[in-house]
Amino acid sequence: MKFFIDTANLAQIKEANELGILDGVTTNPSLMAKEGIKGEEAIAKHYKTICEIVDGDISAEVLSTDFNTIVEEGKKLAAIHPNIIVKVPMIKDGVKAIKWFTDNGIKTNCTLVFSAGQAILAAKAGATYVSPFIGRIDDSSWDGVELIAQIAHIYALQEFDTQILAASIRNALHIVKCAEAGADVCTCPLESILGLLKHPLTDIGLAKFLEDAKKM
Ligand code: G3P
Repeated sequence: MKFFIDTANLAQIKEANELGILDGVTTNPSLMAKEGIKGEEAIAKHYKTICEIVDGDISAEVLSTDFNTIVEEGKKLAAIHPNIIVKVPMIKDGVKAIKWFTDNGIKTNCTLVFSAGQAILAAKAGATYVSPFIGRIDDSSWDGVELIAQIAHIYALQEFDTQILAASIRNALHIVKCAEAGADVCTCPLESILGLLKHPLTDIGLAKFLEDAKKM
């Protein structure tokens, strides 16, 4: 399973990258706004900076919702760097645009996916990645991890190439459960990645080893 970080914060991207386990980055308009990135030029510059930090797939989301504008915007985003993945929402014009990008050699990430039916459409359109938002599904009292397992089952059975990118990860357990359920990628906040490190017995064991080391 690949690890992406789900942020537009450069310090966090660098910190995760320095761990040596990072395969890519996902951003969205909310995450970009949180970093105060405004205007077409600043947005493109920020994506380029991220691409220069991490050698992997970097998702950059379109802000439009009609076919022609999504295509124009996506072409501009893809031109920023060869590692840019154009992130497109799961709407009718989005599916059409994903098909257009697929036919024209531009990689895509179909975002805002909350059902197996939507994941089938994304795969049929040739999306490189499909992003089910598992935390938001959990928030609405459904089971996000179960959706990952269902999509993984369907994609294996139907031999779809689209990679399942589990998004809206809220904690370290989500990452473990997504790995078990067959996600190809987990995109996580830095604290969920670092949460994987934590175990009280590791801390207790290390403290004891360091104490005993003084007697060596
Ligand atoms: O990047 C999309 C997704 O990961 C958003 O997560 O926490 O806003 O539901 P969240």
